[in-house]
Amino acid sequence: MIISIRPWLEDSDRNQDCLPGGGDGLVALTSDAEMEELLQEAGRLDEWTNASRLNRMEFYHLPVLAREVLEALQPGHGKQFYDGTLGGGGHTELLLSNGAHVIGSDQDLDSIEYVSKKLSEYGDSFLPVHGNFSRMDELLASVGVDHVDGVLLDLGVSSHQLDEAERGFSFRNDGPLDMRMDQSCGMTAADLVNTADQEELIRIFREYGEENRAYHAAKAIVEARAVKKFERTSELADVIAKVIHKTGRNHPATKVFQALRIAVNDELGVLEVVLEKALKVLPPGGVLAVITFHSLEDRIVKQFMRARSEKMLDRPEWPEPKPNPQYCLDLPHRKPKAPQDDEVDANFRSRSAKLRVAIKV
Ligand SMILES: C[S@@+](CC[C@H](N)C(=O)[O-])C[C@H]1O[C@@H](n2cnc3c(N)ncnc32)[C@H](O)[C@@H]1O
Repeated sequence: MIISIRPWLEDSDRNQDCLPGGGDGLVALTSDAEMEELLQEAGRLDEWTNASRLNRMEFYHLPVLAREVLEALQPGHGKQFYDGTLGGGGHTELLLSNGAHVIGSDQDLDSIEYVSKKLSEYGDSFLPVHGNFSRMDELLASVGVDHVDGVLLDLGVSSHQLDEAERGFSFRNDGPLDMRMDQSCGMTAADLVNTADQEELIRIFREYGEENRAYHAAKAIVEARAVKKFERTSELADVIAKVIHKTGRNHPATKVFQALRIAVNDELGVLEVVLEKALKVLPPGGVLAVITFHSLEDRIVKQFMRARSEKMLDRPEWPEPKPNPQYCLDLPHRKPKAPQDDEVDANFRSRSAKLRVAIKV
């Protein structure tokens, strides 16, 4: 039996997928749980479990804005790049197959293991390193590199991380409430929701999730954990669903989960650090390319690039414009690149991607 599950689709989109059910015709998938039930009845659960595990590895992640990234980085022989967000290695493979060398890092050991095998044919052209991109200078130094022709950051989580229930990012697939991209260290989402005070939870949900009902979500969490500490993603999703009502296609816990993920992985803090560090490893003409998936990240990248792309600064109170001491970037296009319709059709998760590019002067 061949099972086709496109794991890069959001869980909510899986009902567009079909399970070829042998002689039984096509069965629309609504959820993993329902599918498990169907297969258990048919005595074929083991077959599915093994096949879906293979699928998850086979479809680790689909690279977004691939054309646009290639256009920005212009890979070729003699060029060397740093990919700080290896994920499934999709972008790195595009760079390698165009003759470039790549130092690729990820804080997720699953990614390093998967990509090391997948790209082994590129030999010394590809150097995988485990670590947070906020330590980009140390990671590059560990492989003897101090300058690269381009830095690529494709922020957020991979499809593999979202789809793997055990990683605890999903409100639909029950798993341990973890959400750490780097499983080797740091506080889990369970630690955070079980210990942070109500005010801190409100701040996290407001700031990182832009959740209007942050107060209600935080209060419900504090009340629920007094009875029993949170351990599983479904426990948290259920508590949130009681106080936040579903709008559109989104699950009520979407924004709370996003906010916790950002807090657990300090996603905005490390982004500010890596952007500064990227400037230090790029020579004149070197390219910084950053793909973001939500407005908080995009705002940081936009402001960082804009602040360094103005040659002169002017203020109403100054008699004349002054040179900008931060000036060091040229922006080939001021607006970010977004995926074309054909890409969104083929990969629904790409719909909110934005690529910003800057060139060191
Ligand atoms: C969107 S995926 C990248 C996909 C990749 N470009 C591809 O084509 O397969 C993001 C990856 O970046 C990693 N990541 C996110 N933040 C990171 C950080 N601060 N340091 C290192 N890796 C990070 C995640 O673990 C995840 O594997």
